[in-house]
Amino acid sequence: MVHKLPSSLLVVGSGGREHALIKSLAPSHLERTALSPAPPRLICAPGNAGIAQEVPCFPVAVDDIAGLVALAQREKIEFVVVGPEVPLALGLVDELLKAGIPAYGPKADGARLEASKIFTKQILLKYKIPTAAAGIFSEVPAALDYLRQRQAPIVIKADGLAAGKGVVVAQSLAEAEAAVHDMLAGNKFGSAGSRILIEDCLFGEETSILVVVSGRDYVILPTSQDHKRIGDGDTGPNTGGMGTYSPAEVVTPELLRRIDHEIVKPSVDAIAAEGMDFRGTLFIGIMLTPSGPSVIEYNARFGDPETQVVLPRIKTNLLTLLWAAAVGELRGFKLDVLPDYALCVVIAAKGYPDNPPKGDVITFPSVLPPQTAITHAGTAKNSAGQIVTNGGRVLGVTALAPTLREAADRAYAACEKIECASKYYRRDIGARQLNRT
Ligand code: AMP
Ligand code: GLY
Repeated sequence: MVHKLPSSLLVVGSGGREHALIKSLAPSHLERTALSPAPPRLICAPGNAGIAQEVPCFPVAVDDIAGLVALAQREKIEFVVVGPEVPLALGLVDELLKAGIPAYGPKADGARLEASKIFTKQILLKYKIPTAAAGIFSEVPAALDYLRQRQAPIVIKADGLAAGKGVVVAQSLAEAEAAVHDMLAGNKFGSAGSRILIEDCLFGEETSILVVVSGRDYVILPTSQDHKRIGDGDTGPNTGGMGTYSPAEVVTPELLRRIDHEIVKPSVDAIAAEGMDFRGTLFIGIMLTPSGPSVIEYNARFGDPETQVVLPRIKTNLLTLLWAAAVGELRGFKLDVLPDYALCVVIAAKGYPDNPPKGDVITFPSVLPPQTAITHAGTAKNSAGQIVTNGGRVLGVTALAPTLREAADRAYAACEKIECASKYYRRDIGARQLNRT
């Protein structure tokens, strides 16, 4: 059955990822890539100050499931693309489908792959997909007993969603014990931490593999690498991600074939075998260890800021890809990818990830380097109509160029020209790959 492309779209979310999705779904982009379907009408909820410059935004929060369904109905939306994990885990896609509105993103059962690290670990172990050994605990004494049989460094993970903060890579036994106490006894992450995983530490370079999945069919998107720590040289606490680049050349074509064979295909098959009809992005966080690739985690959505470097490299009309996945027509889908390199520097507010200030005025340069774009994340408009900081990660600057060095030079030139009192960004995005070549 051939499905007509939808003519009206709602993107749910308010971050840099959603701004990147909107840029790639925008009529101007689809026209520029000379693709045939008529440009769709695009709206966003709740969006941010940057997204609002491009499409109408509606103030419905990402966890207001009934409100989002009502918005989609009122605006006669034919296709919803869900960005963040929270509405997915709350069953937004289930509710949209019940209302007869197709959506991109898994239903709540598939979103559990991200919402419960224990659920995922059990699947990985059951289907013998490479991953670190781990124990599951809900009581402090048993967890401490287990810890004493292992050695540091060791990783303590809250089971549930904790906005990227529920993982402690403990360098000593004492640090590990403290994390166990914080989560199981101290209620640090509420019910998300009432069960934990204690996992062996993996060593190596990380890569983000984004896979568009539709049942047993899938398309692997261009590779990328994130920079999770707040500080240069991968120092300081973990964040949602401070910058990315694509392609991640550490993943050679041969290694990608191995990842497909040992991890991607077995994962997609396992998810289907467990009865989930997953239609959305399976984001596989992988550690490239000396003994081979190993799964760190699944996410059930696009990465942020991976999306900001992956989508600009995709030449294929993004709407046809997401729609094919949603309606079950992904088999044989051919993806065209640009040879260019993309690099994204995240501009955060000083104090992130703990206490970023809000309300600082941001001034943008009138001219950007070629093939450079700014995505907004935590931004808002103040009463004077100025764009101000409104969250930890504030902006992303993505540049495309024939080499990674040029992409970095372009992105950083733009970062320097953006003015904001609390501006902070890492200076070494891409350094691993740049230093290798
Ligand atoms: P997650 O929230 O699962 O993405 O974990 C956040 C980060 O913690 C990952 O990106 C890794 O840098 C690190 N991490 C998670 N699990 C492990 C592990 N088993 N070994 C080493 N590092 C890990
Ligand atoms: N950048 C990592 C994530 O989206 O989870």
